[in-house]
Amino acid sequence: MAGGSAASSSSSSSRAGWRGVTMKMPRGGRLFLATCLGSLAVLLLYYQSISKPDVSVGAVSRPAKSRRSPLQTLYSGDQHLELLAAQRSLQGRRELLEQACRSHTKKRRVLSPEDLKHLIVDDKHSLIYCYVPKVACTNWKRVLMVLTGEGRYTDPLAIPANEAHVTGNLRALSEFSVPEINRRLRDHLKFVFVREPFERLVSAYRNKFTRSYNTAFHKRYGTRIVRRYRARPGPPALEKGSDVSFREFVQYLVDPRTQREEPFNEHWERVHSLCHPCLIHYDIVGKYETLEPDARAVLSLAGVEDSLRFPTSGKNTRTDGDMAARFFQHIDAFYQKKLFNLYRMDFLLFNYSTPEYLRT
Ligand SMILES: *[C@@H]1O[C@H](CO)[C@@H](O)[C@H](O)[C@H]1NC(C)=O
Repeated sequence: MAGGSAASSSSSSSRAGWRGVTMKMPRGGRLFLATCLGSLAVLLLYYQSISKPDVSVGAVSRPAKSRRSPLQTLYSGDQHLELLAAQRSLQGRRELLEQACRSHTKKRRVLSPEDLKHLIVDDKHSLIYCYVPKVACTNWKRVLMVLTGEGRYTDPLAIPANEAHVTGNLRALSEFSVPEINRRLRDHLKFVFVREPFERLVSAYRNKFTRSYNTAFHKRYGTRIVRRYRARPGPPALEKGSDVSFREFVQYLVDPRTQREEPFNEHWERVHSLCHPCLIHYDIVGKYETLEPDARAVLSLAGVEDSLRFPTSGKNTRTDGDMAARFFQHIDAFYQKKLFNLYRMDFLLFNYSTPEYLRT
């Protein structure tokens, strides 16, 4: 059990030197002060977990509970062989991520509660999940609703997709007080699921811009994209924004104006910005490409593998690469390169190689 925090502390040691707040400055002195104090407190958490590594996880007051927390199970080393095998690759990913963070992040900053909006908390099973749209996040939210629902739900797939995305059905880490955030970051198993960045992007484009029912996205983003990047847009396109091409979407993404105006929508925002994998030490980095075994590993660590199966819909992820290649065919080398730079951190941090179809 000591392993739990020992392992996280070894990786956190590099964080001990992290300082310097590079947050956007909110208007109003008081708010700014509050934010500073807030982030200071979150920073303190990390110092705390570094300086007294092994006090907690195992020994601390959970006498009545015979079951270990997933974090303890993960680092204790005595699990089923199958899980251990899965873990060797998970361990490798974690180390690679830490190494990549060390070599590629220069600016170090402090977390603020604002950064934790994508982290969903399950206190009953001591889990924290950072959701990334287009990486099976609806199914993960469904599973977490079953886990936290006190018997209200039993079958994840019986939960309608739109209900899984209702805020309020699940709790975000950002809703808690700073000490409560700190405790959970220290004691819970933190996991995230990632996907090949361009396959995720193509999936987001197809889902949001080529399906006729996504009128909210067409209005909000499509009309703007058509207005800006189409040479002679017709009135219906300007009004509906429902026929954005992938090339126009890419132009929108790489245009510096776009991110100056507002942050990317979460469906195309980078995992690096949604989940802060260089600031939050994820215990498990699952991949969409190996969704089934990776999800099983998480559920097994949570001790629910016998009662709950992760709903994998039998998708064939092997064709996703071909699909991405087809979409990128029509993108100039110039834009391909810009786009790759934009998503570079997600490629590097999660060990995705540069796609062969890119002309860079
Ligand atoms: C990183 O990717 C390479 C090439 O796909 C693979 O051989 C290697 O095992 C991966 N490393 C980890 C730690 O997952």
